[in-house]
Amino acid sequence: MARISYVDGQFLPSHLAQVAMQDRGYQFADGVYEVAAFMNARLLDEARHLDRLERSLAALAIPMPMTRRALTLKLYELMRRSHQRDGLLYLQITRGAAPRNHLWPQGMRPVLTMSVFPPKFPGAALRAKGCAVITAADERWARCDIKSISLLPNVLARKKSATPELRETWLVNETGVITEGSSTNAFLVTTQGKIITHPADHHILGGVTRDVVLELARSHQIPVEERGFTPRELAEAAEAFLTSTSNFVLPVVVVDGNKVGDGTPGTVTRRLMALYDHHIEQETYENSA
Ligand code: PDD
Repeated sequence: MARISYVDGQFLPSHLAQVAMQDRGYQFADGVYEVAAFMNARLLDEARHLDRLERSLAALAIPMPMTRRALTLKLYELMRRSHQRDGLLYLQITRGAAPRNHLWPQGMRPVLTMSVFPPKFPGAALRAKGCAVITAADERWARCDIKSISLLPNVLARKKSATPELRETWLVNETGVITEGSSTNAFLVTTQGKIITHPADHHILGGVTRDVVLELARSHQIPVEERGFTPRELAEAAEAFLTSTSNFVLPVVVVDGNKVGDGTPGTVTRRLMALYDHHIEQETYENSA
C-alpha cells in the first residue's frame, strides 16, 4: 500500500510529510480534525463530516483553507493516490504557523494536512461476539495541572483580552472562583495583608513562579492562604498580582474596569516583586561561575 499524505498543498510519501514546528496545531492544539471512513473508494457520510468540519472551524474562527468542493476533490485525490479502496481518512486543519504567542495574528493562513490509514473496522468475529469496556472519570479539560500543549481553551480565553490596555484573562470556574489566568497564576492580597491564591490542584497549572513566590512570602512571614477567591472578593481586595515565567510578579491594578484597592501596585505586591527580583539575581547572576 502506498503511504501517501497531503501537507499544505502537496501530495507526498508519508515518510517525507512534515509540518512546521511553529504550527499552532503543534504549539497549542489550535486546530480541528475529522476522521472519515471510505469504502469502495467512496467516503462514508461525506456531507455530515464536512458539515461538522465547517462547524468546528467556524467555532474557532479558522477559515476553510479552500472551498468545500475543492476540499472534496483533494480528499478523493488522496484516496486515489493511496491505491486503497477501503480505509480511514484523517484530515486536520490548524490555524497555521506563526511565532508562538497565545494571541494569534490577523490574516493567518490555515494549514490542511491529510493522510490515509488502512481499515481497522471490526471483523465478523468481534462483531458477533461483542467487546468489553471499562469506565473512568471524564477528565477531559479537567487536568489543568498538566502542562499540556492542548491550550485551545487558554488561547480562546486570552483572545478576550486582546487589547493593548489588557494583559491577561483571569478564569472563573463553574463554582464561581477564580482559578488562574490563561497563562499566569492569579493572586489577591486582602486588606489584612494576606495573600490568597488557588491551591495547586487539578484546576490550575502549578506555576514555578507561583511556587517560588509563595515560598518567599512564607519565609518572610507574609501570611498565605491557598484557596479559590471570587470576583467579589477581588473587588474588595487591597491588591492583586499575577505571576509567570515571562511576567515574574506583576501588579494587577484594574480588573473588569474597576480599580483594585487604590489602583496602584500595593505594598505587599511591591515587596514580593523585590524579593523575586532578588531571587532572579541569586539564581542567574550570583550563582553563575
Ligand atoms: N505559561 N498557568 C498557566 C495556564 C500557564 O500556562 C502558565 C505558564 C502559568 C505560570 O507558570 P510558570 O510560572 O511556571 O510560568 C500558570 C507559559 C509561560 C506560557 O504558556 O507561555
